[in-house]
Amino acid sequence: MTEFSGGWIPLDVTDARAVHRVMLDFAPTAVVHLAAMSKVEPCEQQREACWAVNVHATERLARACHRQGAHLVFLSTDFVFDGSAGPYAETDLPAPINAYGRSKLAAENAIHGSALSAWTTLRTTLGFGDVVGYPEGRLNLATFLVRELSAGREVRVTSDQYRTPTYIPDLAEAIALVIRDRQHGLYHIAGQEYVSTRAFAERLADRYGYDRSLLRPVTTDELHPGAPRPLRAGLVTLRAQTELGFRATPLDDALDQLGRQLGVGPPAGGSGGR
Ligand SMILES: NC(=O)c1ccc[n+]([C@@H]2O[C@H](COP(=O)([O-])OP(=O)(O)OC[C@H]3O[C@@H](n4cnc5c(N)ncnc54)[C@H](OP(=O)(O)O)[C@@H]3O)[C@@H](O)[C@H]2O)c1
Repeated sequence: MTEFSGGWIPLDVTDARAVHRVMLDFAPTAVVHLAAMSKVEPCEQQREACWAVNVHATERLARACHRQGAHLVFLSTDFVFDGSAGPYAETDLPAPINAYGRSKLAAENAIHGSALSAWTTLRTTLGFGDVVGYPEGRLNLATFLVRELSAGREVRVTSDQYRTPTYIPDLAEAIALVIRDRQHGLYHIAGQEYVSTRAFAERLADRYGYDRSLLRPVTTDELHPGAPRPLRAGLVTLRAQTELGFRATPLDDALDQLGRQLGVGPPAGGSGGR
C-alpha cells in the first residue's frame, strides 16, 4: 500500500482494479466524481463507451465509497430533463432526450438506489469561468467566446437554448460546502439568471467591449445536427439556497471577476458594461 502525500495520480475510472487500489491507498473520506464522457455527439455515437464511463464506473465508485465509508459527491446535469419547461427543480421529472442525458440519469439512479447513503448529487448547467488551459486546451463557453471574439472571429451561438449559466467557483464552493457539512441528497447548483446562450454571449461581449455583431445566431438543429439538446433547460436552486445556504454570484459580477482573471473587460473596481 502506498501512502498518499499530496499531488495527483492518473486513474481510469473504468478500470475496476485501479479504482479498488486507489480507494485502498488513499482511504478517502470524500470522493468528488467529475469524470465523464461529457460531449454529446461522442456519447451518441459510442454508446457503450459512454455507458462504461458515465454509468458503470459510477456504480462501481458508489460501491467502493460504501465499502470505504466515504462520501460520494457526483456531478450531474440539466441534460437529464427534456428541455420543454425549464428551469427545473429537483422535484421535476427527468426525461432525457440524448444518450449523454440518459447515461447521467442512469448514473444518478445507480447511486441513489445503491447501498450507499452518504451521497450528494449536484446537478449543474453551462459551467463557465475556469481559466485553466486558456487560451489552448479545454475551454468553456466564456473562455471560448473570449478567445474567438478577441481575435475578431465570428462565433455561432444558439438562440433557442436556455440555461442558468453556472460560475465555476460557485460550483466549487458548493462542492466544498456539501463535503464540509456532510449534506446528502440531490441539489441543483447553478446561476440565478435564465438566459439563452445567445443572450449570455451578448452580455459577455458587451461587458468585455467586444463587437457583438461577431455573434451569429443559429438554431440548435443547425449547430448540432448530430444529437438533440434540451432547449429550455436550466436549474432552479431554491433547495440549495434553503438547505445549503448556496448563493450564486450574479452573472455580471461573475463575468467581471472572470474578465479580471483573463485580463479583459472593465478595469478592477470599475462598474463594467456599456
Ligand atoms: N461543463 C458543464 O457545463 C457541465 C454541466 C453539467 C454537468 N457537468 C458534469 O460535470 C463533470 C465535469 O464536466 P466537464 O465539463 O469538466 O467535462 P470534461 O471537460 O469533458 O471533463 C471530463 C473529465 O473526465 C475525464 N475522463 C473521461 N473518461 C475518463 C475515465 N475513463 N477515467 C478517468 N477520467 C475520465 C476526462 O479526461 P480526459 O480529458 O483525459 O478525457 C476529463 O478530464 C461531468 O461529470 C459532467 O457530466 C458539466
